[in-house]
Amino acid sequence: MSKLTILEFPDPRLRTCAVPVTRFDAALSQLIDDLLETMYAAPGIGLAATQVDVHRQLLVLDVSEEKNRPLVLINPQLLAAEGEQVYQEGCLSVPGIYADVTRAHSIQVRALDRQGQAFELAADGLLAICIQHEMDHLVGKVFVDYLSVLKRAMVRKKLEKARRARVDAGQREHAL
Ligand code: NI
Repeated sequence: MSKLTILEFPDPRLRTCAVPVTRFDAALSQLIDDLLETMYAAPGIGLAATQVDVHRQLLVLDVSEEKNRPLVLINPQLLAAEGEQVYQEGCLSVPGIYADVTRAHSIQVRALDRQGQAFELAADGLLAICIQHEMDHLVGKVFVDYLSVLKRAMVRKKLEKARRARVDAGQREHAL
């Protein structure tokens, strides 16, 4: 397994629309394992393939306390959405930024597992938020898109400043 590099907002590659997964082979399995390792190491509770510059409809998540309930959703489709909830979201591609986003409270999703078998999932609360957030990534959307133009400009400025500070400190891993 290997840890993958996570793209950071406003990287234009985060705007790419992912295409459906059609091959369920060893390479896909490897990619899923790498996504999970990258998500757990970050640490995060969800990661879409888009965020590691792989533009296929694939996402992983784990909202459990013990970090032992990985979920893999391939070619996910939203079947139903109900109610509303507001949650202060963050994103591994927008480090250090948290903001309230309104999303559906409960959702029904159909997806394929790593073997290509279809399944349906009913989710509410944090799991529903996480799935909606990650599905947004697959269509090139980032949670800061829900913020006002002014607030988004502030986010951009804050991230640029943090990036410059990292470069000044000689931590160049994200500067290349
Ligand atoms: Ni995200």
